[in-house]
Amino acid sequence: MGKEWFTEAKFGLFIHFGLYSILGRREWVMHYERIPVSKYRRLMEKFNPRKGAVDEWCSLAKEAGMKYVVLTTRHHDGFSLFDTKVSDFNAVNSAAGRDIIAEYVDACRRYGLKVGFYYSLLDWRWEAYWDGPEKNKEKWDEFVNYVHSQVIELMSNYGKIDILWYDGGWPYSAEDWRSEELNRKVRELQPDILINNRSGLPEDFDTPEQYVPKEKPERPWETCMTINDSWGYCRGDNNYKTVKQLILTLVDIVRKGGNFLLNIGPKADGSVPYPLVERLHAMGKWLSINGESIYGTKVGTVTGSWHLGYITQKDEKVYVHVTKWPGREITIPGISGEIVDAYFLSNREPVKAKTENGFLYISDLPDEPLDPYDTVIALEFSSVPERVEIGFKETLLK
Ligand code: GLC
Repeated sequence: MGKEWFTEAKFGLFIHFGLYSILGRREWVMHYERIPVSKYRRLMEKFNPRKGAVDEWCSLAKEAGMKYVVLTTRHHDGFSLFDTKVSDFNAVNSAAGRDIIAEYVDACRRYGLKVGFYYSLLDWRWEAYWDGPEKNKEKWDEFVNYVHSQVIELMSNYGKIDILWYDGGWPYSAEDWRSEELNRKVRELQPDILINNRSGLPEDFDTPEQYVPKEKPERPWETCMTINDSWGYCRGDNNYKTVKQLILTLVDIVRKGGNFLLNIGPKADGSVPYPLVERLHAMGKWLSINGESIYGTKVGTVTGSWHLGYITQKDEKVYVHVTKWPGREITIPGISGEIVDAYFLSNREPVKAKTENGFLYISDLPDEPLDPYDTVIALEFSSVPERVEIGFKETLLK
């Protein structure tokens, strides 16, 4: 299978879930509010997501048109959602009394979703983490051994894992974490796995957080983003992005060759706040109609943005995304080639389109867009179209 699936997948679900979900004040609550480890630990007695929770997350991902999921197996607070031999601070010892990661992996497989594990290198409960390797080498080594043991457990006990999504390496280096050694072991156990760039080594892909790079990056990449302003469940955060913003972000990412890892923070019982569900459903609906213009597209000869939208491409097939519907007609300079077929992707109704002297003209369009977010017009060229430079002076002063 290899790793090609990743660049074709385009859209994945990020899930931040842990003890912090009980408090509902974001996943950094322990740190922000300086909650002592002993007190925070007592949240274990209340941690009991309902049995079908992971199933709901996967079914939501599927409905949203996502191809993979990344779940926090352990966040910075140190609470492991999995059965681990090197820490008793885990889901099996909590009120839940079960391995949430085992359930999660099982659900992903049933829904045909690729399986991603988020793992935070740092753990706030360890003195050695705060002290660092300089101050006490022996304690630091003990801490890093614990981290390595957990990653090895995750890579050994759950079958095939598709993504290892590290986080929390700061302020230490790849040498401090012995990341090279760790990732070598990871790849021995999981030859096809993709590893992100947050263990201090570049590995397989970059992870811009909460933004889309301005220019197309050289390396494989994935933007991770929240739907409101929080990763972990936050009761008071209702600053939700609109469906339109989310769809436009997806298209912008895809036209630059990246993936979109969009986050949900479920509540303590595992249920997903409705505003998140609603938005993911709307995205899924749009993708069920327009998915062809997203999945499997590659950065091509005419891929990019134009003043009223974006362009995605699959060789000789070009998808004009109209996000600011002009009504009547569309003019895009800089494209040449012979168009053999042109139609609205949503209903396959023909569209009048032609190229002339390096201009693409689409005409006789309805006054109103077919889609409230992004109306996609598919153009089939007789061969891969070419980008041509249309000079300003030469054209404007003609
Ligand atoms: C930041 C936050 C962390 C979150 C991550 C997701 O690194 O510290 O809480 O999990 O972003 O990328």
